[in-house]
Amino acid sequence: MATACLLGIDVGTTGAKTALFDLEGTPLASVTVEWPLYHPRPGWAEQRPEDWWQGTCESIRRALQQAALPAEAVHGIGLSGQMHGAVLLDARGEVLRPAIIWSDQRTAAQCDWLNRHVGAERLARIARNPALTGFTAPKLLWTRDNEPELWQRIYTVLLPKDYVRYRLTGELAAEVSDAAGTLFLDVAARRWSDELLDAMGIPRSWMPPLYESVDLAGRVTSEAASATGLAAGTPVAAGGADNTCGAVGTGIVREGMALSSLGTSGIIFAQTDRVQTDPGQRVHTFAHSVPGRWYLMAVTQAAGLSLRWLRDRLGFTSVDGRDPYELMLALAADVPPGAEGLLWLPYLQGERTPHLDPFARGALLGLTARHDRPHLIRAVLEGVVYSLRDGLEIIRGLGIDVRQARATGGGARSRLWRQMQADVLQVEIVSVNAQEGPAFGAALLAGVATGAYPSVEAACDATIREVERLAPNPELAPVYDRYYQAYRAAYPALRELSHTLAQLAAQ
Ligand code: XUL
Repeated sequence: MATACLLGIDVGTTGAKTALFDLEGTPLASVTVEWPLYHPRPGWAEQRPEDWWQGTCESIRRALQQAALPAEAVHGIGLSGQMHGAVLLDARGEVLRPAIIWSDQRTAAQCDWLNRHVGAERLARIARNPALTGFTAPKLLWTRDNEPELWQRIYTVLLPKDYVRYRLTGELAAEVSDAAGTLFLDVAARRWSDELLDAMGIPRSWMPPLYESVDLAGRVTSEAASATGLAAGTPVAAGGADNTCGAVGTGIVREGMALSSLGTSGIIFAQTDRVQTDPGQRVHTFAHSVPGRWYLMAVTQAAGLSLRWLRDRLGFTSVDGRDPYELMLALAADVPPGAEGLLWLPYLQGERTPHLDPFARGALLGLTARHDRPHLIRAVLEGVVYSLRDGLEIIRGLGIDVRQARATGGGARSRLWRQMQADVLQVEIVSVNAQEGPAFGAALLAGVATGAYPSVEAACDATIREVERLAPNPELAPVYDRYYQAYRAAYPALRELSHTLAQLAAQ
């Protein structure tokens, strides 16, 4: 008989990633298929659920071929995905409009409505988060206000990965970790909030049954089996949000453990055994994919995006097969900490933590004639880490003693950037063997759902190992502390001016 394996699917923003693993966590195949992102107007972001389904089918077919395993070897499937997107279905299960996704910023008026009619205090008490433009509830209300005919035809609301589940299994289902980003989940009780749905005028019947991430929520239909190459009847776990699956896939499943992720955006994720909230609401409080656990998450909008922006603006390309990022990081390594007085504010897409300000703007401060390209690169790397420190300080201020963080995301491939995190954050930065992120976490959740592991913690213990620890350099702590204080002072000093510039640009 062929090796039993687990299959994880991440329904991401740029594409579908399907990866296969054996029960020890060894990757057997990994395939990403990209899909389009539409910006019909400035600040809008939409995707087509049909693209998600077609891209997922292709990635599954290719991953099965790559692993050269029969479909029957797949013991279970786990789904992970981008949070917050609204997929609207009619009574026949047909998609009513393109999904408005997490990065869409059109809903400022609906957030104001939520604060006035539902109440910021009630949202904080039940949904444990403020009305933010990216979350699901304001997207539904935007449809109510702007597409009333379509609103009348809504029968079911799904999140992105749950739409893929619907096509894969025929089941309408949601699970708590993703539902926590809707603004109508009672996050402490881990169930839909009738009180919030009523106050928002959103019918309760639109919400599908709600599961924990490790529950089984469907089996592959014969139609989906023909489209994907999977075996009909293969069990599908409820799965989780991309951030919780990323945390599971890196082993962040116990209180006191933290994750630092440098992808397009950057996050600090800290697990908590009870629900905790920041009174200032600068960090999110969501349900973890580990049953009965929660987490706090700081989000900086432009982490890897800052470096990609600089790469493109400075025109870095591959040289002799060396990746442009590798070349940039090598240049930055020769610049002293603090980049000789150059400071980067990474607010290229507004900012969530700590400012919750869509009109915050990026800035390079302290430029002199002496500064060269290596300084610019170093300043950008440092500015992103100062922004992570903003998040970490809030989490520490809530009494969570983070002394170590596991590093993940594309940015974690750079030793320089990892060491910078250790030095600026003054925590130990740990790397682990598992590199497949959310798709791996989703596969582990499938392993728990199908009985291959007794718990999420046991699944992580069986598969994830530390491979390197970088200790903070105590000599650099005071240097970075001084620059960090300058960084902290920069946003309040520039806030009004940034808002004026944002307004001028919008005219
Ligand atoms: C989390 C968030 C993103 C999305 C997209 O609040 O908006 O991390 O999940 O990946």
